[in-house]
Amino acid sequence: MAETKEEKDDLLRELLSGEEGTAFDRMNQFMELMMRYNSAIREVRTKFEVLNEELSYKTSRNPIESITSRVKKPFSIVQKLRRMGKPLTVASISESLNDVAGIRVVCSFIDDIYKVAEMLAMQDDITVVAVKDYIRKPKPNGYRSYHMIVEIPVFFSEGKQIMRVEIQLRTVAMDFWASLEHQIKYKKESADRPEIVSELKSCAETIAATDARMLGIRKRIENLEKESEEENAKGQVLSSPVQRYVIE
Ligand code: GTP
Ligand code: MG
Repeated sequence: MAETKEEKDDLLRELLSGEEGTAFDRMNQFMELMMRYNSAIREVRTKFEVLNEELSYKTSRNPIESITSRVKKPFSIVQKLRRMGKPLTVASISESLNDVAGIRVVCSFIDDIYKVAEMLAMQDDITVVAVKDYIRKPKPNGYRSYHMIVEIPVFFSEGKQIMRVEIQLRTVAMDFWASLEHQIKYKKESADRPEIVSELKSCAETIAATDARMLGIRKRIENLEKESEEENAKGQVLSSPVQRYVIE
């Protein structure tokens, strides 16, 4: 993380001091690229909103609780390129980084994550480039989420461009842990102490167990509802005079 304004300024100056064109041209190229990533976010966001609306209509509950998104900040972009040993140019941003455009989809239950992720992956304009399932295989610190890198064509005035978007899918509970963990740890060295690491991990496990129980409760209720609907349907058949006649 760049600590001072001077460091941030230096990093950004480096991005803008390439060999071709003026700094003004490169700034414009950079801003245009960010605009394109923003458009890619809108495309993917709409897909999740459509899925949520349809599934809410069909199941009478919302599989998606909320969607947030961000375009990576300029100095974070430059820092990451430098960390990766990549050239600090506008071209190198789209070549080397997968997470300039980021969307976070917060789902109600664990199975909703897999359902909406699969539905998105099946769409024929989406190419899944990579998946990291930190739900089945949590990070050692307890972090859980389902990450996808996808490519999507976005249609601009001069034709279509394939853009990459990082998608993080989590339950409300996983999001609660990740947000607080991020706030607690941000720039604080004592957060690396073993007792704190293990306490955070233990919280993640408690939360994961609660997520699993909540899903269990929802499924039990769904099954009970189904059974009672089936019972009602049987009752209706028997009480209908025509059916009674047929059965007798
Ligand atoms: P980055 O270089 O940080 O983008 O990581 P990566 O390319 O190895 O990808 P990874 O899938 O591990 O993580 C990508 C993003 O997931 C991060 O930028 C965070 O937003 C989130 N994330 C990953 N690990 C953690 C974690 O331990 N805690 C929290 N709060 N968020 C995490
Ligand atoms: Mg990242």
